[in-house]
Amino acid sequence: MDKLIIEGGVPLIGSMTISGSKNAALPILFASILLDEAATLRNVPDLRDIHTTLKLLGMLGCSCEYQDEQVRVRPGSLLPEAPYELVRTMRASVLCLGPLLARIGQARVALPGGCAIGARPVDQHLKGLEQMGARFELEQGYILGHCRELNGAHITFDMPTVGGTENLLMAAVLAEGETILENAAREPEVVDLAHFLLACGAHIEGQGTSRIHIAGVSRLHGAEYAVMSDRIEAGTFLAAAGITCGELLLRHCPANELEAVTLKLQDMGMKITTTSEGVLVNCARPLRGVDVTTKPYPGFPTDMQAQIMSLMCLAEGTSVVEETIFENRFMHVMELERMGAQIRTSGHIAMVRGVRRLAGAPVMASDLRASASLVLAGLAANGTTEVRRIYHLDRGYERIENKLNSVGARIRREKE
Ligand code: EPZ
Repeated sequence: MDKLIIEGGVPLIGSMTISGSKNAALPILFASILLDEAATLRNVPDLRDIHTTLKLLGMLGCSCEYQDEQVRVRPGSLLPEAPYELVRTMRASVLCLGPLLARIGQARVALPGGCAIGARPVDQHLKGLEQMGARFELEQGYILGHCRELNGAHITFDMPTVGGTENLLMAAVLAEGETILENAAREPEVVDLAHFLLACGAHIEGQGTSRIHIAGVSRLHGAEYAVMSDRIEAGTFLAAAGITCGELLLRHCPANELEAVTLKLQDMGMKITTTSEGVLVNCARPLRGVDVTTKPYPGFPTDMQAQIMSLMCLAEGTSVVEETIFENRFMHVMELERMGAQIRTSGHIAMVRGVRRLAGAPVMASDLRASASLVLAGLAANGTTEVRRIYHLDRGYERIENKLNSVGARIRREKE
């Protein structure tokens, strides 16, 4: 396993380019199962989860080539099985369920199980697919799904689930008749998936709203498509400029999809402006504490909660964080406390009292975004911070140390 060694205290100054979005690329790759022609996807980030997905697609009968952030995928004669040894490393594998049922009427997908941040059930996915005519059994930790054909249905989610909306959207585009998804997730990554499916000949309206209408078609052709930029990577680097009192220009930064984040960072005292080159962010004064409650899009994203908490640790005054999406997404708190942060948690609430300095220390990454928050804290801390188990980080950030070192950070990667 690798670890990152970070020498803190250097303001980040310079420009960076935001990569393609992991959480848009993953569903779009699974959607290629629906096509009866090849597709070419551009701006696909070089990430662990992407390569896991390409491996799984290969096992399902699709041929995939990845080169220079571009993927050429051609569905062949499909097989129904997504094995546990792959699914357990990436829960998004459950997104093959809808496409497999739509294409071959059967699927054998390992139940993803929980992860560090929560139980992560998939009941909404299964309930919606059952309404469309699928039947499921659970056997030795695998979901066995089958259907003669999928029929359009009027489906209302109990909560706006990103994965649930994506699975049902992919199932509905080839279903018989019309489907309505109520209380659908509005995340930009869901919209990006819908745009890819539209480019392949699907009939979809209402993407980006909580009511999506799909009219099933008999086939989907191939397409060339560029994946959107990663708003969470961009938000993480905005926070990096803030925590180091630096100045960054972020090229390909999806500013429109980051409004809830940029507003909060501006409330903390950061200057963020959109220029023709990209988004310019600087932080020339001490940060002020703010209160944040995570919400489904367009609210403050849960995937930025750990990162803004690192900023709050060094802000003047007290900040309150309420995590409403996942039941266990404060794993970074104990590690930040090892660096001198003053944080009290009670259930879904964390109270952060700003301190003048953090001190470098050995810390342990537990999940993708918690790892990012520890890197941010290490960039600002006095002395050396060792972030261990950074395979979590590599799932969602393309060689983060190279990007940060290109703007002045002092980070090296070592074998643990
Ligand atoms: C997606 O996960 C993202 N992953 C997550 O990003 C992100 O945190 C999450 O959406 C919320 O925005 C990908 O897109 C690959 P949900 P997903 O279904 O789809 C409950 C990252 O860091 N729920 O929107 O799994 C669930 O427990 C990752 O990049 C059910 O109860 O999230 C949670 O409380 C982490 N039953 C809430 O809904 C279901 O059937 C939202 O989950 C489905 C979800």
